[in-house]
Amino acid sequence: MEQKWWHDAVVYQIYPRSFCDSNGDGIGDLNGIRSKLDYLEQLGINVIWLSPVYQSPMDDNGYDISDYQEISPEFGTMQDMLDLIEEAKAKGIRIVMDLVVNHTSDEHDWFQRACESKDSPYRDYYVWRDASEDGGPPSDMGSIFGGSAWQWHEATQQYYLHLFSKKQPDLNWENPNVHQEVHNMMNWWIDKGIGGFRLDVIDLIGKEIDRGITGNGPRLHPLLRQMNKATFGNKDLLTVGETWDATPDIAKLYSAPEREELSMVFQFEHITLTWGDGDKWKPAPLDLKAFKKVLTKWQLELKDTGWNSLFWNNHDLPRAVSKYGNDGKYRVKSATMLATVLHCLKGTPYIYQGEEIGMTNVKFERLEQYKDIESLNFYKVKTESGVSHDEMMAAIHENGRDNARTPMQWSREKNAGFSSGKPWIEVNPNHVEINVEQDLNSSDSIYQYYKSLVTLRREDPTIVYGEFVPLLQDHDKVFAYLRKYKGKTILIVANFSDEDLQVDLSEVGAVKVEVLTSNDVINCSDLSNLHLAPYDATVLAIQ
Ligand code: GLC
Ligand code: CA
Repeated sequence: MEQKWWHDAVVYQIYPRSFCDSNGDGIGDLNGIRSKLDYLEQLGINVIWLSPVYQSPMDDNGYDISDYQEISPEFGTMQDMLDLIEEAKAKGIRIVMDLVVNHTSDEHDWFQRACESKDSPYRDYYVWRDASEDGGPPSDMGSIFGGSAWQWHEATQQYYLHLFSKKQPDLNWENPNVHQEVHNMMNWWIDKGIGGFRLDVIDLIGKEIDRGITGNGPRLHPLLRQMNKATFGNKDLLTVGETWDATPDIAKLYSAPEREELSMVFQFEHITLTWGDGDKWKPAPLDLKAFKKVLTKWQLELKDTGWNSLFWNNHDLPRAVSKYGNDGKYRVKSATMLATVLHCLKGTPYIYQGEEIGMTNVKFERLEQYKDIESLNFYKVKTESGVSHDEMMAAIHENGRDNARTPMQWSREKNAGFSSGKPWIEVNPNHVEINVEQDLNSSDSIYQYYKSLVTLRREDPTIVYGEFVPLLQDHDKVFAYLRKYKGKTILIVANFSDEDLQVDLSEVGAVKVEVLTSNDVINCSDLSNLHLAPYDATVLAIQ
């Protein structure tokens, strides 16, 4: 496999609105990010994935873009953005931009002009259909944010398609003018010195709406190859696609180098395991055996070609320690255990802001405290269809996107040190105990542990390129695997439970064992009788 700079990179995702507010308006901004570059450099990451900072009416917090070549005033200016790119580069950190091109905002100039008349040269930039015979929408296609995917446009007497909110009209990727506009815009950003793109819901752009096909449409891969050629191909950038329904075979289409599409994809198979019947509003408990099976499958399937992204959470998902660990008594232990398992897998790890200090889900009592359009829309849809208020609030507490969007907890001070003003969304009350300041001042904090894992990966190609070998596959509480590279073997063992366990790993056949990192003092002298306390995790070099 040809080695790439992003193979041993560690990416840190910033959700700008919630990261750091420099001017006291309660909204995180670019200068806030600039003020924290030293912090990120110390953590050891070398890529930032920046959630959207473009001009936007913020119906979906910036995933509804009204101008791709302007910065939203609440985040700062274009000069702030250029300074951020420059200053980050000086620290060896590249900025990956979020590319949201399945849809724009309805306030984008293209859409505004498309609405002027059916003959507008921009009409075809979007997807319009006549009403069905009964005057209703052209099909029963649903929006991912609830309700119909079709919105009636009174002035021109047609429906337009929006797979997300009605303020996010879908672009028409059957129109070559759309390709040209998007490619030009991408090249404009590439010329500004960015490190790559995270391609938002990119699996939707090959849609064939009249056949009811949205994800993984037949035109998807040709479109990506065309985009690659016209823009980032040969530029050595990191490109990662958000691909909800990808199977390993599909992931290879996207990420096998000879396909010339993307560097890697985000797949969500391990995430949706805890959605009852595929519905995120019906949370299901974690079945570790099934979880291991999915992750193992992805490790093995992409062993020779393609490339995995590794993540437990992002701005759309609940906090990892709350979802897969124990955010009470064993918060530090389980957060470091989860980090160990993730960072030693093969692929590029992503850290979502606050994960490195073990930030947890939030439990707002009142619906009004929530800001996320998805949670608010689905509260309405679900309660109208008979789900009780309590059940829906419990689902939002568990899986709602605002869990990830409460402000970054910098200190125990007012507003968690995020802002001197009133934050756009309330801070998690637990910032008094969980915050960056505290983690920086303690030698055995979650932050320090993440730092050691990031260093370990950078220094050891076994973790980057080693062959993945699953162990104890039938164990329902322990995740264990080997990584093997050029005669070197590393063993990773993690207890996913709050129980004391005894495991037999004599099959590894170790003679000599050296601890590379560990979240506890674990006696590893006898692998046939390894004792693991709750959420213990260790990384061992084996001979
Ligand atoms: C992606 C983003 C999400 C956004 C949606 C629509 O899933 O991650 O935050 O709401 O696309 O752009
Ligand atoms: Ca601000």
